Amino acid sequence: MSVLQGARLVVGVTGGIAAYKAADLVSKLTQAGALVDVVLTARAQEFVTPLTFATLSQRPVWTDLWEPTGTAAARHIELAAEAQLVLVAPATANTIAKLAHGMADDMLTAIALATAAPLVIAPAMETHMLAHPATQANLALLRERGAHIVPSEEGRLASGMLGAGRLPETATLLGAARMVLGARGNLAGRHVVVTAGGTQEAIDPVRYIGNRSSGRQGFAIAEAARDRGAAVTLIAGATELATPYGVTRVDAPTAQAMRDAVFAACAGADVLVMSAAVADFTPETVAEQKIKKRAVAGGDGAGLVLRLKRTPDILGEMHAAADQFPGLIRVGFAAETQQLREAGLEKLTRKGLDLVVANDVSQPGSGFGSMTNTVTLFYKDGRVADLANMAKSEVAERIWDAVAEMLAQHEREKTRKDSARAGVKGSTSDEQSRWH
Ligand code: C5P
Repeated sequence: MSVLQGARLVVGVTGGIAAYKAADLVSKLTQAGALVDVVLTARAQEFVTPLTFATLSQRPVWTDLWEPTGTAAARHIELAAEAQLVLVAPATANTIAKLAHGMADDMLTAIALATAAPLVIAPAMETHMLAHPATQANLALLRERGAHIVPSEEGRLASGMLGAGRLPETATLLGAARMVLGARGNLAGRHVVVTAGGTQEAIDPVRYIGNRSSGRQGFAIAEAARDRGAAVTLIAGATELATPYGVTRVDAPTAQAMRDAVFAACAGADVLVMSAAVADFTPETVAEQKIKKRAVAGGDGAGLVLRLKRTPDILGEMHAAADQFPGLIRVGFAAETQQLREAGLEKLTRKGLDLVVANDVSQPGSGFGSMTNTVTLFYKDGRVADLANMAKSEVAERIWDAVAEMLAQHEREKTRKDSARAGVKGSTSDEQSRWH
């Protein structure tokens, strides 16, 4: 289940032109299952109306702390207590200054002061206002106190100027909200490495051998790990997808580059999930110049023969080098078009994996390019779980459920061993104290 499902959020919208983008944010948060209480500052209402947000969130919208019925005055403390996250997007320099100095002269700043929930701030303003030492000092102060600041982006501003200060896209704001909401999840403090997408093996400077992997499943796995508190390194092959917020991306376009990136990233990591579709073969040699039809042996009309060699089997090499990566949980994928079970089980043992995620990519609604997937999980201990067809994001959650269970098991074993060792040591020192 997504970290947003059922989450209680207060979204504060302040008086900048980017306020119109907050409507999309509230819509997407609500669609993802969050309960969103929107608070507009007085100046925000000059740009957007409460009705827009009430319609999108399907909840009352708050504007005036001082309205005469007293409902808002009473509600602001409840909202502060109920919120799991307060997200201010867009945040003007004025509201940032008020938040930094603990002022509470309207509904939003009063809630921000009364809540124990984490604060996420997305500044959006004209470049000079953002760069001003006062704004920067206020942001630094908020950061020091634990607020999460979503960096504004460079681009075209409402003034027509190009510069820093744009409100990031909704997807980025959603990513930040998810990351902060999940910071204490069951992967908190863990470092996970995820590979995604297909590789491209060069034939000449313009051609390559690739595959149909979109990277969607791997990216969903990386996002889901971030939403459970993990530090995530995402090693990406060929993919069109944007880097998820808060995830460290390393581009590795070929099997060899991916092998090197995986070995480097896994030092000290807790989990490796190899969801990338890595080429098994690569051209023996890469032509320095574009191969011409006429230059092929036999002349124009003759076919081209490519000689391919094996690429490194990354999971195979990781298995052989397991001593270098103590405690690393390794998850592999098996994208097959036939005999899924045999292939899954064979991969589990041959590559020494803790979990294999197998899918029949020839089935509709499954595998490459699709938004959904039907997978079977093969566990090292012999368990097999056939999952129904579901969104790739949901498959990602199931994989992390399985891995979190393994990590907890490792933790229990480690504690048991440590206490057994401490017990032995304890008796030795007892004996020693008797000897002296
Ligand atoms: O052996 P096969 O390529 O079918 O295994 C698939 C699994 O192995 C996937 O997890 C894939 O990312 C990984 N793999 C690898 N190195 C390769 C090819 C695949 O680690 N050269």
